[in-house]
Amino acid sequence: MLTGKKIVLAVTGSIAAYKSCELLRLLIKRGAEVRVIMTEAAQRFVTPLTFEALGAQTVYTGDWDQHQSAIPHIDATKDASLLLVAPATANILAKAAQGMADDILSAAILAARCPVAYAPAMNTYMWHNQATQRNVTQLTQDGALFLGPASGEQACGDIGSGRMLEPEEILEALKGAFSPRLLDRCRVLITAGPTYEPIDPVRGITNRSSGKQGYAIAKAAALAGAEVTLVSGPTNLKTPAGVRRIDVTTAQEMYDTVMREVSQHEIFISVAAVADWRVANSSEHKLKKEFSGAPEIIFEENPDILASVAALENAPYCVGFAAETDNLIDNARAKLYRKHVPLIVANLVSDAMNQDTNTVVFVERDAATPLTKATKEHVAQELIAKIAQEVN
Ligand code: C5P
Repeated sequence: MLTGKKIVLAVTGSIAAYKSCELLRLLIKRGAEVRVIMTEAAQRFVTPLTFEALGAQTVYTGDWDQHQSAIPHIDATKDASLLLVAPATANILAKAAQGMADDILSAAILAARCPVAYAPAMNTYMWHNQATQRNVTQLTQDGALFLGPASGEQACGDIGSGRMLEPEEILEALKGAFSPRLLDRCRVLITAGPTYEPIDPVRGITNRSSGKQGYAIAKAAALAGAEVTLVSGPTNLKTPAGVRRIDVTTAQEMYDTVMREVSQHEIFISVAAVADWRVANSSEHKLKKEFSGAPEIIFEENPDILASVAALENAPYCVGFAAETDNLIDNARAKLYRKHVPLIVANLVSDAMNQDTNTVVFVERDAATPLTKATKEHVAQELIAKIAQEVN
């Protein structure tokens, strides 16, 4: 994502400035070329030498004698892909919102022709103050990207939002600045994870789906500019940034939620490993082995969510998944006809379930396109590109 990108990291006077040293290191490790701008206040927290020692190409400090050029505020961002202000204090947000240019950083922001991103860091009362919120709204309207802030305990002891995102989280959020917006403002509904069908209050039937592929698709869609709703069975995964998540347990709950939500969406991607059957005679009380012996479990069929969505009058563009143990393409194509969907992503159970990588084939009516083995994140990006091509 960052290979060959020229990034200007601007550091302002916040205690979070020490985290910018780690951020610089991570940016360089991911292949970016980084220049640094430090305000005077930032230099009270960390020194230019720290950034130089960590590999910054140039560190602009506003010391006019230091530079060959008379216009460092123009040179700094000249061929940059991004100006990232991290940490961004309330003060720099106010100056940038007003278009002030009374020091090297505010002048560089005003002169920047590249996108500008801010990772705010300030006391929670300063963040929530109307003046700051006005400045954030103004800067957002002007096209700036905001990364965070996070909430939690602050250096001053107050608790609330205003903390700078961790360096790893900033990198993650930055992907949005560099991803092509293939599904800009498109509304995408995704199911992911397993379902859980109770036998009694403590026992149930589920499957080995981890949810990783569905969550990776939700993330890739959000990064491509989509508004994403993720209907998730039980998983331990973190909700991808910007994704609206609705948790469900059983297949019936997943069906009800999808049917309620679907009319608001243009694309439906059914990744969940939905249980085909539920327990018809599930017990309200825990089954006791002492008295009843082995219980007899009676199954009844769950509704087919994907087929039901595809059969709607105003159906969205539907994509299904097929996890097979054999005859991958034939089974996937049979599913495509049975459920009336234009695209099935086929994978072998042994390649997909509970793994970080996947080997998939895009199966359509008259084509089967195999992808090479890749991370689930990469498969997700390929699928989003394929869907964008089909719907646009
Ligand atoms: O019928 P089968 O389970 O093999 O089909 C898999 C595809 O159908 C997946 O996309 C899965 O999410 C979806 N499905 C569904 N509701 C079910 C069963 C499967 O949406 N009850």
